Amino acid sequence: MALADIQGISSKTPRLTPGRQRVFGPVEPRYHARTLADSNETIRQSPHRTESQKGIESSTLGMVVQYLGHAALFFSSPGRVRVVIDPFQNPRGGPRWFTKRFPVLKAQVVVSTHDHFDHNAIKFISGLPAILKKRGSLKLNDVEVRLTPEIHSEYLHKKASSGTQMVNNLVMVESHGVRTCHLGDNRADISSGALNELGRIDVLAMPVDDSEHIFTFAEVDQLIDMISPKVVLPIHYFQEGITANTADLGGITRWLKHIKERAEIRYSDTSQIVLSPAEMERVEGLEIWPLAPALATGRAVI
Ligand SMILES: [Fe+2]
Repeated sequence: MALADIQGISSKTPRLTPGRQRVFGPVEPRYHARTLADSNETIRQSPHRTESQKGIESSTLGMVVQYLGHAALFFSSPGRVRVVIDPFQNPRGGPRWFTKRFPVLKAQVVVSTHDHFDHNAIKFISGLPAILKKRGSLKLNDVEVRLTPEIHSEYLHKKASSGTQMVNNLVMVESHGVRTCHLGDNRADISSGALNELGRIDVLAMPVDDSEHIFTFAEVDQLIDMISPKVVLPIHYFQEGITANTADLGGITRWLKHIKERAEIRYSDTSQIVLSPAEMERVEGLEIWPLAPALATGRAVI
């Protein structure tokens, strides 16, 4: 079956001009070398992965997840399937949000949780990827990606002004028995139907910041209680080297103080983790893994 025949999936070629490709280039070894060579971290039995000069690579142990920055995650499975979620760009008008341009990355699948500039820059993904924007499930080798449509967090404001509700897709990525969910910018009161469709979630990537741009701290707590992940990856907050001062985002210092009352925080200098069933088995209570965004260093400029 052609990818285009699968519900919710378009096999449309990303719009990249040759000029743009020359400017940005493919994933450059030097970017990863400088992003990751700073880390000598070798925590025993840690999922946090010392990063190589070749950037994201597959691992026989499980799915490698690299946090690129803002809400962008890059997955690479043992079966060499690559998935990018929520590549970002600056808005056409209004204040600038990013000081970094998103790199051109090669992947088989790209997902945009919703059609806002900080989540929809699928043009940067090369390799003729399947583009997932609507409800649907795609299985490629050892990876399944499933989109569950829900509602964007701004729905209350939108309702007041225009009566419309913007769709936000909850994205579940499963590989080798580990299930990761990316919340996008969803509303806090997710429907029970959507929660049932998500099912068990091991790792939850969720927007968190001290300005409570998407969720209040109480809503973050509520979502963690509703979804019961083992691990939370905080995303969508102010990041030095990526986020512009004109973006309407805070850091996560205050939130980390808040959440440490109920969770163990595992700090790391790396942007990559390896998700394996054995690692998930090891996690006993709620853990927070604030990763170092790969695009945050000056050397990450593509
Ligand atoms: Fe956003």
